[in-house]
Amino acid sequence: MHYFRHGRIGPFVVREPLVLGHEPSGRIVDTGPGVDASRIGQRVSLEPGVPCRRCRYCHTGAYNLCPDIAFFATPPVDGAFAEYVVIADDFAHPVPEHVSDDAAALLEPLSVALWAHRKAGTGIGSRVLVAGAGPIGLLVAQVAAVQGAAEVLVSDPDPGRREAARDFGATAVRDPAADDLSGAGVDAFVDCSGAPPAVLAGLAAIAPGGRAVLVGMGADEMTLPVSALQGREITLTGTFRYAGTWPSAVRLAASGAVDLDRLVTGHVDLDHVGEALAPGPEQVKVVVRP
Ligand SMILES: NC(=O)c1ccc[n+]([C@@H]2O[C@H](COP(=O)([O-])OP(=O)(O)OC[C@H]3O[C@@H](n4cnc5c(N)ncnc54)[C@H](O)[C@@H]3O)[C@@H](O)[C@H]2O)c1
Ligand SMILES: [Zn+2]
Repeated sequence: MHYFRHGRIGPFVVREPLVLGHEPSGRIVDTGPGVDASRIGQRVSLEPGVPCRRCRYCHTGAYNLCPDIAFFATPPVDGAFAEYVVIADDFAHPVPEHVSDDAAALLEPLSVALWAHRKAGTGIGSRVLVAGAGPIGLLVAQVAAVQGAAEVLVSDPDPGRREAARDFGATAVRDPAADDLSGAGVDAFVDCSGAPPAVLAGLAAIAPGGRAVLVGMGADEMTLPVSALQGREITLTGTFRYAGTWPSAVRLAASGAVDLDRLVTGHVDLDHVGEALAPGPEQVKVVVRP
């Protein structure tokens, strides 16, 4: 959506025509040399970024940081709004028959949420604040609930989105325009809005020793309350996609612990991709069915 609307995400700039789409599922129709041909016909969820496998990040498992990763729909690599794509066989993860095509596609944003929680250090009994109740925030909230968080606070200015958050694991919702979150004392704050005011409000809500994880992409730069971060020893990190999340994502979808199908509010074909990329606030996830 950032590429479609703004032509860039941080340092990644679209300079020539680019096929978008990086949350794909499908069925294997053919295999290349050296790949197990018995996989033809298998239903798969595609992990859209294939790293170089040779650099120090790849060697230590932090392959999301690989400088040579080829990631669908990140310039200059074309994405998955297409009938056919080619990907390394180990990045085509098999999904059980009872996981829908839509859910298999949404293992990608689920992976973003799983990675955010890994960075946030959340677990049973945690108090978590999530800013932004778009697809990513709703998945972060769901995963918090599945992990046994004691409190899952979700803030969003949009009343419909706050309502959705209640359906997806929030124990309470907040309107950032009306509710003061400072002093809430959460263990972890996960920003899924990219809005600087949300980040500042979230930082003020963290208990001493807590963590802040910036997932949302909006402002490239913002001013931070340094003395508050120091005085409360807050750990602040960003996240970049994910690494090694598909196996757990597949299991969470297969067991029904995380509900992905309910995030889907519409479908379009390849001729109407623009509608999926400019959804109204009433839409959560629009899936493209080629
Ligand atoms: N770091 C990563 O690897 C990564 C991966 C995927 C997505 N993202 C980013 O995560 C963000 C969320 O993605 P999405 O698809 O859910 O987007 P989205 O635009 O659907 O959701 C953002 C939500 O934030 C809400 N919001 C706006 N201002 C707010 C405020 N002050 N306080 C609280 N909420 C506020 C909006 O109303 C909206 O519901 C995007 O910025 C996206 O680019 C990052
Ligand atoms: Zn690498």
